[in-house]
Amino acid sequence: MCGIVGYVGTGRAAPILLDGLKKLEYRGYDSAGIAVLDGSRMQLFRRAGSVAYLEEARKLQGCIGIGHTRWATHGAPTEQNAHPHVYGRFAVVHNGIIENMQPLKEACLKRGETFSSETDSEIIAHLIEFCYDGDFIKAVRSACARLEGAYALAVLCTAEPDTIVLARRASPLVLGEGEDGLYLASDIPAIARKGIKIYALSDGEFAILRGREIAFYTEDGRKISKDPIDYDCEEEIPEKKGFAHFMRKEMSEIPLAMANTQKIIPCYPRISELREVLCHAEYIEIVACGTAYHSGICAKYAFESLARVPVAVSIASEYRYRDPIVKKGTVVIAVSQSGETADTLAAAELARARGAVVVAVTNVRFSSLARLADHVLFTCAGREIAVAATKSFNAQLMLLYSLAEELARARGGRVCGAELAELPALAAEAGRAAEGVRGWTAHFAGAKSVFFLGRGADYCAALEGSLKFKEITYLPSEGYPAGELKHGTLALVERNTPVVALLTSRRLAEKTMNAVHETYARGAKVFLITCLPEYCSREEVSFSVVIPDCGEIFSPALSVIPLQALAYYVSVARGNDPDKPRNLAKSVTVE
Ligand code: M6R
Repeated sequence: MCGIVGYVGTGRAAPILLDGLKKLEYRGYDSAGIAVLDGSRMQLFRRAGSVAYLEEARKLQGCIGIGHTRWATHGAPTEQNAHPHVYGRFAVVHNGIIENMQPLKEACLKRGETFSSETDSEIIAHLIEFCYDGDFIKAVRSACARLEGAYALAVLCTAEPDTIVLARRASPLVLGEGEDGLYLASDIPAIARKGIKIYALSDGEFAILRGREIAFYTEDGRKISKDPIDYDCEEEIPEKKGFAHFMRKEMSEIPLAMANTQKIIPCYPRISELREVLCHAEYIEIVACGTAYHSGICAKYAFESLARVPVAVSIASEYRYRDPIVKKGTVVIAVSQSGETADTLAAAELARARGAVVVAVTNVRFSSLARLADHVLFTCAGREIAVAATKSFNAQLMLLYSLAEELARARGGRVCGAELAELPALAAEAGRAAEGVRGWTAHFAGAKSVFFLGRGADYCAALEGSLKFKEITYLPSEGYPAGELKHGTLALVERNTPVVALLTSRRLAEKTMNAVHETYARGAKVFLITCLPEYCSREEVSFSVVIPDCGEIFSPALSVIPLQALAYYVSVARGNDPDKPRNLAKSVTVE
């Protein structure tokens, strides 16, 4: 994971690096560091914790430098393990994982080299130093040829103090050419500004930033030219705008995110081509991770119920290693807010290589997923900063439901246009009702474990509610199918165990209430989220929140809203930072 930045130009590097790193903290915030060359003097400043701890480094002199914000893979999140790693003449920042670090390290140790960190990344600085014979790029190329795994690298050398060498394999890296100098970063927003030209490095490529010039090279050392990406740099940098946390602000933006996303499919320029592909699809496979995987599960109910197309939903990290069967006419929908999740990218690439048509559903233009897919449908949630996904989930649902509806229309299935059109407005109502969960906080803040129950689409929302809850409260929770509880998990329910029951389908309500009663009979305290107010007065129910009725299939788009709010308020009550939960990062760019 991790985010990397770099700069060489006429300005002072340190403030540019720090500002860039702040924008990359969504990729990790365990530790951070920068290296700035002042002439040939390497100045290194690293700290455990977030980029905020680097402020002192802002005053460093020098117009060339590299920086890093880390999500720890190998080695604890300490200052010693923070990047840049310096060995000999070289300083290196790395995003990715080096899989053959052990044999490489043993060879270095045999040569008598010593290591100052526990990271896999430090080996890269050692290898480059070993390969260096006066040719900087050749040394980086030779070192990279020995690496297995994923990397985006930026390297400084005291012997060439006007140069940064970059390399990329399976981790993103973009470059910028501005009036005042050359930039590099793990993603575009970290360097985008007016007048800057942005270039994307492809897998296996290298680049040299020297003085005012960028040169691109293929893996085998051939010089190539590249066109800049067409990028809208007017994008607004999100602020909290009076909210205590980004997560709370982003929840307030759910109706807008859904309304904007609703317009996407009708405006998609290649809609007839996409419709054709979908119409002939015998089978749809959705691949995704985390919250995006849950939106896939919710969408399966809609695709199957409305369009009668069989849909499988796979966790991307499982799909990529299970040797999947990709029959002719398979459409794979890869869902990812960031478009950079390593497992989702690998699953989409594999599906494509085996003949599937890949449709990306992502929130980030120019993301790696958007670049590799055959069709790209953008969710219009706007930038999401909080690690816990909220508005992006609702926007994904809006888009996937609209796609299911599109397919239903084309295949003569069940069309629910009016219900779908109303969803953003109903989400606003659900947002107001969701404030009711604030009063539930005390019952959850000290709980040993929490259960989220539902049937059908309610079960899908329960899964997402549970993920959100554990992610930011650090309390164990399970999202469970109501009917499955008695097959084992009921053993965990004890006196006052909080059970959150979702009840949005009249058809299934009594069935779900049976399971609710089974938990109540064993002492559980039951919290109900429903669009059926008559169930609020049932003896089993201690507390309830009533949300609008939008029909069974689409209900997760509304019922998840009080669940997000519950996770948020319990997280805050426990003294956590819901925007930056421990051990996590917004974008998971390693497998
Ligand atoms: O960017 P992606 O949608 O691919 O991210 C997938 C997951 O890492 C993400 O949804 C994660 O589960 C969220 N932090 C959950 O709130």
